[in-house]
Amino acid sequence: MPSIKLVSLMVLASLATGQAWSQTALMKQAQGLFKPIPANAPPLAGNAATPAKVELGKMLYFEPRLSESHAISCNSCHMVGMGGVDLQETSLGHRWQHGGRNAPTVYNAVFDVAQFWDGRAKDLEQQAGGPLVNPVEMDTTEAHVVEQLKGIPGYAAVFAKAYPAVPDPITFDNVRKAIALFEATLTTPNAPFDRYLKGDEKALDANQQEGLALFINKGCAACHNGINVGGGMYAPFGVVERPGADILPPGDKGRFAVTKTVSDEYVFRVPSLRNIALTAPYFHTGKVWDLRQAVAIMGSSQLGAKLSDEEVGKIEVFLGALTGDQPKVALPILPPSVATTPRPKP
Ligand code: HEC
Ligand code: HEC
Repeated sequence: MPSIKLVSLMVLASLATGQAWSQTALMKQAQGLFKPIPANAPPLAGNAATPAKVELGKMLYFEPRLSESHAISCNSCHMVGMGGVDLQETSLGHRWQHGGRNAPTVYNAVFDVAQFWDGRAKDLEQQAGGPLVNPVEMDTTEAHVVEQLKGIPGYAAVFAKAYPAVPDPITFDNVRKAIALFEATLTTPNAPFDRYLKGDEKALDANQQEGLALFINKGCAACHNGINVGGGMYAPFGVVERPGADILPPGDKGRFAVTKTVSDEYVFRVPSLRNIALTAPYFHTGKVWDLRQAVAIMGSSQLGAKLSDEEVGKIEVFLGALTGDQPKVALPILPPSVATTPRPKP
């Protein structure tokens, strides 16, 4: 008969191999559901990148004179250096007006199937035109954007460099295209989860791996999957149980406004969970500031599952492993206004 010591050693050994096997199985399962963020900016269809175009796009992203008040730029609501968001429930726009929805991050937006909470813009290029002319955001017009940029003499050379051989390169279309190219560079590779997906088991600690297993097995990954751990499909907010009106007020019917199809009432694009620990408050209403509460709400509203505090905690630490390298952006130097430049209308 083997000694007690030997038996316990054998048990320990089999436990260890069992654990190693299930760790490998978990990694395989994860690799089938998610993809790492690539190191370089992805190409945009019909909008080839050059360094000069990306630089122009960066200038425009930080350019407050694109707004009627000359006080608001894309960066006002999607701050580089702050997760690509404004940390507001809903954003402050033109004349201190609040929009109706929380500002999603621009980071990794390039990988999403469509833009906005309701997916009403098909890509970054189409999206970039929206806020410029939105009365509660930047409140300008397409014609005024062109007039404004033509009224700042320094931009002529920057546009000419970005669009050489184009006779009149300062157009609304080129503004959108350049901004989209800059946004495509705002990706966050190399999160612990990306390193794990590439085969480094130690990139996630034991709690994070348990959180990942819960995220998959409880069903979160049925909607939040792919390269952005979300961003790939649409789903109702409240599949099983509609959250209270404090979190999901009845006024905003989401994708219904785009498709006018009854089954799209309260349907939203499943958001990416990349860098989610940096982008509170949560949901399209921005009503939830605590990531743990957001996870618990998802359990009951989307899955009909009452997650225990411990499960919520493990999923939260897994979500923390989705924070990648943040883009390092040197502030652009913008050309000065001159006497004839159109003035701000605050
Ligand atoms: C006043 C605040 C504000 C300004 C200024 C602003 N945005 Fe937004 N942005 C938002 C809000 C709010 C949403 C979500 C609106 C919705 O879904 O209906 C959004 C959505 C987006 C999205 C979609 C992200 C996603 O996950 O769907 C992108 C990309 C984006 N903005 C880029 C820009 C760019 C580029 C500019 C400058 C041209 C800009 N924004 C200016 C507040 C702002
Ligand atoms: C049936 C699809 C579906 C399932 C399953 C699902 N979600 Fe979601 N999730 C969504 C949708 C849709 C939203 C956007 C809701 C809104 O704000 O309108 C969302 C939002 C979120 C948010 C807030 C994101 C942000 O940027 O504000 C978090 C966090 C989240 N989900 C985590 C989870 C977790 C964790 C699970 C599993 C317990 C889960 N989700 C299960 C569809 C789903």
